[in-house]
Amino acid sequence: MSGRPGTRLGVTKAVLWLLVGVAAAVGVVRYLLGLGLTTSLSDRTPWGLWIGFDVLAGVALAAGGFVIAGTVHVLHLERYRSLLRAAVLTAFLGYVAVVLGLMVDLGRPWNIWRPTLFWQPHSALFEVAWCVMLYLTVLALEFAPVVAEGLRLARVVAFLRRFTLPLVVVGIALSSLHQSSLGTLFVIAPHRVHPLWYSPLLPLLFLISAVALGLSMVAVESLSSSWLFHREPEWDLIGGLTRAAAPVLAAYLLLRLGDLGARGQLRLLFEPSWLTAWFVLELAVGVVVPLLLFSLPSVRRHRRALGAGAFLSVAGLVLYRIDVGGLAHAAGSGDGYVPALTELSISVGIVAAMALVFLFFVEHLRVWDEPPAPASRFRPAFTDLVSGVRVRAPWMGGARLSALAFTVGAVAGLGLVQARVARRSEPRPFPVSPPRSVLALRVPPHAAGTADRLLLTTSLVAPAPAVVESALLIGGPEPGKGVLFAHAAHQARLGGTGVSCVRCHHRNRRGDRATSCAACHRDVHARTDTFSHERHAAALGGNDGCVRCHAAGAARTREGSTPCETCHGRDARLGTGTAPAATRPAGVAVGYRDAMHGLCVACHRQEDVRRSDGAGRSRCAFCHRAGSAGGSGGGGSGPGGDPVLVARAGTMP
Ligand code: HEC
Ligand code: HEC
Ligand code: HEC
Ligand code: HEC
Ligand code: HEC
Ligand code: HEC
Repeated sequence: MSGRPGTRLGVTKAVLWLLVGVAAAVGVVRYLLGLGLTTSLSDRTPWGLWIGFDVLAGVALAAGGFVIAGTVHVLHLERYRSLLRAAVLTAFLGYVAVVLGLMVDLGRPWNIWRPTLFWQPHSALFEVAWCVMLYLTVLALEFAPVVAEGLRLARVVAFLRRFTLPLVVVGIALSSLHQSSLGTLFVIAPHRVHPLWYSPLLPLLFLISAVALGLSMVAVESLSSSWLFHREPEWDLIGGLTRAAAPVLAAYLLLRLGDLGARGQLRLLFEPSWLTAWFVLELAVGVVVPLLLFSLPSVRRHRRALGAGAFLSVAGLVLYRIDVGGLAHAAGSGDGYVPALTELSISVGIVAAMALVFLFFVEHLRVWDEPPAPASRFRPAFTDLVSGVRVRAPWMGGARLSALAFTVGAVAGLGLVQARVARRSEPRPFPVSPPRSVLALRVPPHAAGTADRLLLTTSLVAPAPAVVESALLIGGPEPGKGVLFAHAAHQARLGGTGVSCVRCHHRNRRGDRATSCAACHRDVHARTDTFSHERHAAALGGNDGCVRCHAAGAARTREGSTPCETCHGRDARLGTGTAPAATRPAGVAVGYRDAMHGLCVACHRQEDVRRSDGAGRSRCAFCHRAGSAGGSGGGGSGPGGDPVLVARAGTMP
């Protein structure tokens, strides 16, 4: 049973190590250089494959743990006990995979401990976070007796065994809560999930599909490990599991189609789009076919059919999670997100790593009731190349072979990153709309520790004590988004007409006193080079003007040419909080968001510190209010309808 090179197990492990190697290299790059380089994610599509696969599907694969634990301990179907340990182990590793997946996905993973101290009981994500932490602990405790047994700690085993039943009960409760709360997470984002997948019933659908998935997963696990270890599959148990899975799959299928009908979205099934095709594929391959294989008596006689059905339903139900969490979610943002190969490699690598840990446990602990039978030789030609290696650490499948596989994988991983760097396209442009003059409602603080609120209004009459004043609506190209800014009120606060302008307007067109920021900070996210060579050469007299910037012998670069300030000094009056970063070439303006945050948030933060009244002027929601700019987001406090546009300000051509 050792993983000698040349055995099935040895080859499998080498492949797994290879995949782990790829993921490790990509993972290191992800932490050193960030998500932008290693993923196709963006500010608008922040959730993709990792959330869909590692997190949602990882949790779902773990469903086998609670399903089998319930079958054995609650329903007292003792014959399934032989599957229990492996199922609990898989569940545990599934959850570890979830945590690993989250750690690469989170922009600031070092903040992960926060939900333990800062409670947000109204947040679905908060429930998810707690369920993961608690259930991971429960699973570790459920599996602990097996480890203690392996270490021959009889007393510890006896002690831990006493808690088995309460742990199982808590585990089932947590698991059901968690499976469904993952669905809840997407219920609150109706505009984000594609209508083929969005449903108010998502929590229920997630729970039901988790039960079916759990049953199939345990069958798949039993089949693959018997293949690996050359054992006779436990066909009677697999038969039982698949028989139980059939009605669950049927209920799930009916619910999904019924729900689509009830929401009046059945017509979407006839729209020719790749999402429709994908939806049909997901249901057909993942649910309908396995359902037939599991339930038709003539088919059930063939064991292979049951095995194939189990594999298909696992694939289909995992796909469901990927679709809701990743693809349909991303499709909603209209960005056409396609996961990068580097992203995929991390997902696959995490699964491979968990499989290696699983095999390690299987070989060293009693995960199955009887010890696995010794493996017979299995030698496809290509493994002959490496089969001469001596075995040092048997669990590694031949340490040297594994090390070799890992290294090859790591090199391939770096290659993937390199290929991505070479192909990386410019970010999609998001041109800034010019600021618009609007009427806004100034609502005075309703309690101590809050500041004035600004809301868009459709009416010229303000309900007292609110007043109507003119403001700027500034924002990106999307309707319904944007930030309200009381331009005049801020001017007054900062010294009035003559003085205040330079506090914010730091660079201007020639002869201007205060140029609209959008004239230079032209893209919401990307930087813009404001320098136009052509225009300067023309304005400065063509060939006669070259010397004004290019001294003889000087390099024809930005650094080598006459500094911009020499001619633009009078226009460039740096305002507070807008100090240029020395790392960018002269004249390259940061994205609009960074420019605005650099100006607004910096000053508001100072104001927060100065007043220390807890009004939170630098918190996101102070400026980005739901409903403040036309009622985007649910439950917004702003009035609906079209905003009153007073005028549209001009921009630089
Ligand atoms: C003091 C006001 C202020 C605060 C506080 C603030 N922002 Fe902004 N933000 C703006 C302004 C102004 C813009 C530019 C207008 C726009 O593009 O909507 C902007 C733009 C953005 C954009 C790009 C535009 C878009 O809608 O995609 C994002 C994303 C954003 N902010 C996120 C945040 C987040 C997250 C926080 C909290 C950490 C935050 N902001 C805090 C004022 C603020
Ligand atoms: C607190 C910062 C701040 C101060 C002070 C300030 N502005 Fe602005 N101004 C802005 C911002 C932010 C915008 C909108 C963003 C954009 O233009 O893209 C803006 C826009 C403008 C615009 C174009 C939009 C419009 O209303 O037509 C003009 C013109 C302007 N400001 C002139 C002035 C003048 C003149 C002063 C001094 C009396 C001044 N500003 C003071 C921040 C400021
Ligand atoms: C004429 C072009 C121009 C206009 C108009 C302009 N900026 Fe800039 N801005 C730049 C350039 C170029 C830079 C890069 C630094 C530099 O060269 O000064 C910059 C840098 C900044 C920075 C510093 C960003 C960083 O991280 O270093 C902030 C903040 C900023 N601008 C805010 C504003 C605001 C707010 C307005 C409008 C009130 C505005 N800018 C108007 C050209 C402009
Ligand atoms: C306003 C100042 C200015 C004037 C006038 C000017 N240049 Fe330049 N030139 C620059 C700057 C700044 C760069 C660096 C460009 C960059 O970094 O994008 C540059 C770059 C160049 C380059 C190398 C970049 C390239 O595109 O290969 C050449 C060649 C050049 N200038 C030739 C000329 C000639 C010829 C004239 C007169 C017709 C001229 N320049 C007028 C400022 C100027
Ligand atoms: C030798 C003097 C000179 C130098 C050096 C110079 N500029 Fe200019 N710049 C001008 C003149 C003159 C104009 C007016 C062009 C026009 O009207 O089309 C101008 C226009 C501009 C404009 C267009 C704004 C408007 O008025 O429409 C921008 C932006 C600008 N310059 C940025 C830069 C940057 C960035 C640099 C440094 C890399 C630079 N300039 C260096 C003379 C200069
Ligand atoms: C130089 C300092 C400064 C800058 C820059 C600044 N603010 Fe303010 N802002 C203030 C102060 C001070 C208040 C008043 C806070 C209070 O009374 O609690 C305020 C209040 C506000 C309010 C509440 C409504 C009001 O006017 O009383 C909003 C909304 C707001 N700012 C948005 C912005 C946005 C958006 C920007 C950037 C475009 C910005 N502010 C830039 C200082 C600043």
